[in-house]
Amino acid sequence: MQHINASIDFDKCLYAQDIAGSKAHAAMLAQQNIITNADNTAIQAGLDQILTEIEAGEFVFSAALEDIHMNVETRLKEIVGEAAGRLHTARSRNDQVATDFKLWVRDALDRISERITNLQKALVAQADAHADTLMPGFTHLQTAQPVTFGHHCLAYVEMLGRDHGRVSDARARLNECPLGSAALAGTSFPLDRDMTTKALGFDRPTANSLDAVSDRDFALEALAAASITAMHLSRMAEEFVVWMSAQFKFITLSDSFTTGSSIMPQKRNPDAAELIRAKTGRIYGAQMALLTVMKGLPLAYSKDMQEDKEQVFDALQSLELALVVMTGMVNDLTVNKDAMQAAAGQDFSTATDIADWLVRVLNMPFRDAHHVTGTLVALAEKKDCALAELSLADMQKVESGITDDIYTVLSVENSVASRTSYGGTAPSNVKAHVKAWKKKLA
Ligand code: ARG
Repeated sequence: MQHINASIDFDKCLYAQDIAGSKAHAAMLAQQNIITNADNTAIQAGLDQILTEIEAGEFVFSAALEDIHMNVETRLKEIVGEAAGRLHTARSRNDQVATDFKLWVRDALDRISERITNLQKALVAQADAHADTLMPGFTHLQTAQPVTFGHHCLAYVEMLGRDHGRVSDARARLNECPLGSAALAGTSFPLDRDMTTKALGFDRPTANSLDAVSDRDFALEALAAASITAMHLSRMAEEFVVWMSAQFKFITLSDSFTTGSSIMPQKRNPDAAELIRAKTGRIYGAQMALLTVMKGLPLAYSKDMQEDKEQVFDALQSLELALVVMTGMVNDLTVNKDAMQAAAGQDFSTATDIADWLVRVLNMPFRDAHHVTGTLVALAEKKDCALAELSLADMQKVESGITDDIYTVLSVENSVASRTSYGGTAPSNVKAHVKAWKKKLA
């Protein structure tokens, strides 16, 4: 029974939140004359001492005492005697654990927000340095149209901006205080729930005691936001892995973020990127696990809910680590401009620019221009040359209206510079967005 029942092995990391919650509760009980000021004073001092003991590594946790709440209360009794027994007046472990866990998730969300911002800053710095560094843009991982590396970096800044928004939303919705809901029905004691709410930094007390003790939406929402963020990091990590391969050679990471092989001395493996990509699995897994734990539970608390913590701790800590390491990699990476630029011009990447020229200059309907361009690409393929290497005479055989002005749109630089539509890849756009993001992230 002890093996399946005890949660102390993992919920001991709620100690700071548990002590903060108990201090707020005791102070409120004293203010409301539910306990005496003398008892409150003893309880406050005792809880402070326990905090010190735990942080010094001197506290002996006991599985027989089941969880962090009983471990702290039992030690409090050893320190202050009878007053400790009054702390649990008008409280249950059900509202206590909901409060502790919310406080932990809230702290984690705050750290994650900050780490997302740091990663965005690192990406914006790369975008600034590479506003006009050319690279191929892909669809289907086939060369599509040239873009700039700065634009590519800013795509991730946008994604992370939405992640940041989701984390902030989750935090705002989470911030209601369950303490004072007691076991499930509220209490007959004259509590001041606004006082504990304020002391613990919540915005308001929860409005329904049944909901308050059985709600784990806040954890699920944090995991949902974490899952999407992890998915974004995984995509970025995947690109790093591809870009570091000999076939691409777009970027180099220093030894700080790569490892050697135990057998092949020449190797530099992108292990950090691969591990970030893999951490996604446990983060998604945590979300599915907790959804499954919650799905059949009748109101209000059931012990099933104790299975919420390990998943959430692991997932949010994994995400924090992944964010920190990704930030390190983004700061560390060097761009191989020559390889990127050479790849940007391959595979007729400026074909769309020809079609656009035919529309703009010859007033051709886009569908016809698309067809003419296709014929030119086929011709270049047959001659094994780039589009810019087709002679004017060859081009005119396909479409007599073509003039040598068409060559101006064939260079990768001009292609990219022309994409000035709002949100497009033109270096002028990238620079403007870098500026806007710098201001926003400051
Ligand atoms: N360790 C428990 C948990 O994490 C605390 C709440 C216990 N409540 C109860 N009614 N047994 O959920």
